[in-house]
Amino acid sequence: MNAPTPQGLDVNAPSFVKHSKLIAWVSEMAALCKPTHVVWCDGSQEEYDRLCEQLVQAGTFKRLNPAKRQNSYLACSDPSDVARVEDRTFICSERQEEAGPTNNWCAPQEMRATLQPLFEGCMAGRTMYVVPYSMGPLGSPIAHIGVELSDSAYVAVNMKLMTRMGRAVYDVLGTSGEFVPCIHTVGAPLKAGQKDVTWPCNATKYIVHYPETREIWSYGSGYGGNALLGKKCFALRIASNMGRDEGWLAEHMLILGVTQPNGKKYHVAAAFPSACGKTNFAMLIPPAGFNGWKVTTIGDDIAWIKPGQDGRLYAINPEAGYFGVAPGTNTLTNPNCMASLHHDVIFTNVALTDDGDVWWEGMGDAPAHCIDWQGHDWSPQIAKDTGAKAAHPNARFTVAATNNPAIDAAWDDPKGVAIDAFIFGGRRSTTVPLVTEARNWVEGVYMAATMGSETTAAATGAQGVVRRDPFAMLPFTGYNMSDYFQHWLDMGEKLSKTGASLPKIFTTNWFQKGADGKFVWPGYGENMRVLKWMIDRIENHVRGQEHLFGLSPSYQEMNWSGLSFTEQQFNDVTHIDKNAWTAEIDLHKELFHQLAYHLPAQLKQAQSELESRLALI
Ligand code: OXD
Ligand code: MN
Repeated sequence: MNAPTPQGLDVNAPSFVKHSKLIAWVSEMAALCKPTHVVWCDGSQEEYDRLCEQLVQAGTFKRLNPAKRQNSYLACSDPSDVARVEDRTFICSERQEEAGPTNNWCAPQEMRATLQPLFEGCMAGRTMYVVPYSMGPLGSPIAHIGVELSDSAYVAVNMKLMTRMGRAVYDVLGTSGEFVPCIHTVGAPLKAGQKDVTWPCNATKYIVHYPETREIWSYGSGYGGNALLGKKCFALRIASNMGRDEGWLAEHMLILGVTQPNGKKYHVAAAFPSACGKTNFAMLIPPAGFNGWKVTTIGDDIAWIKPGQDGRLYAINPEAGYFGVAPGTNTLTNPNCMASLHHDVIFTNVALTDDGDVWWEGMGDAPAHCIDWQGHDWSPQIAKDTGAKAAHPNARFTVAATNNPAIDAAWDDPKGVAIDAFIFGGRRSTTVPLVTEARNWVEGVYMAATMGSETTAAATGAQGVVRRDPFAMLPFTGYNMSDYFQHWLDMGEKLSKTGASLPKIFTTNWFQKGADGKFVWPGYGENMRVLKWMIDRIENHVRGQEHLFGLSPSYQEMNWSGLSFTEQQFNDVTHIDKNAWTAEIDLHKELFHQLAYHLPAQLKQAQSELESRLALI
């Protein structure tokens, strides 16, 4: 459907769009942004193939060798547009206190006044794609709908893989269904006759959320979470507001199913900060010694969790695809992921090999030559001489969840899956034990609220600095963080009144290092051993041993079959060091000082109990 918009008003909605408010909004946005055409996406394979071919013609996509990666493409972005831009991300609530101290804030009227001239004519010479999508299984009571208007065909095809996108969404919307309006522009209008670049974007970027009116406005970037607005913008920042108001949770969590040899299955939702191996954990393959155990993926990044009639928490993956970090992924760290990437994949910012395949650091043997993500010749020798990376450290693959050989049979179930346990995992080289179970909900919320992660040199230049990342939601909670803590506490209280048993809450840390600077815990598939201990706790087969802030396993309670890991090594990753914890609690206090506005008294109480216990050891 290619509808010219001479006055920018008649957007020629196709007959299957029956929602007058949606049509009016598209008309209004077209009048503002002045695209040359408006295309109403139907989400068909034909449309996907056509847009991909268009991107190939424009030079944005390179078609990969079909013998190596069937129906797959490589896009390389502008070097200035390679990641989410947290410092350009805004929560524009009416009151600054509502956004809280962890978000950038600007008054809505001021932000609207800033954005209005930027959006005026911003799509000139381009096509506006109307992308209707459902976050979650179509029609699920846990799902919600968004419509993204974007002048990027790259966004439209990525949204097809990442969400349930297309015509069926209009049917769910009907004439008056609710949707979150999301407008996105790369911010690069074309003058008549002006030649386009392969990755248009703008040095000025704004990723803006209006929580009260549930709107998203994104300007200037074509990359990832800045542009695929269903992901972090809707599914976390806006949805966390919806969840608070409506009594549910929007979380930065993977969801997995774990089935025991006797067929009994549990579901776990796990929060880890970005780039801490979430996709690996979601696709874990049980190691030797775990015959008959199976881990299956429901989601790898985001969970929407609502209380059911029975008082249990039911989770869906609002996404339908994975936008995963490529570097470091290989057949040893994540065989299921590698198996997902054989066909129908969009790669962004990885290297192109001479035989038309892709390569990234950590994938396996380096090719003798390839073209790096910036279009330059690359070889191991060049890397040695200049330090050049073949792939950008934040290079990504976009792939439909259905490509995953470990997909869970219930991944698309509109009811969701009942959650038995939450895991909160940080990246800490010291201090935080391998695994701890909270003794109760409040202690679990305390542990999640004070979670920290060490930054890596690649990201910040300052290795080993602990950044507090409450619930792994620091860049994603769309309102005041302490109110978010209170929401978790309230949910626990409400659920416990139903008489249903609350999910257990665990913290993990796979990343402790020994005196030699090497990781002590082998990680990856071996994390199954920790998962099994959690299941044993749920089933009450083991008791754990109490320590400062919860229960950890004894050496004997873990299944060591197939792994040689000594009791001494185990003690190294589970012991509590009084000095380190004294310093740690000081850091928790600093965090609480920063989050003082509306900080729940229960968390302060949990902290003083922790201090009293520490004084006794
Ligand atoms: C992601 C992130 O891309 O957390 O998932 O940054
Ligand atoms: Mn994430």
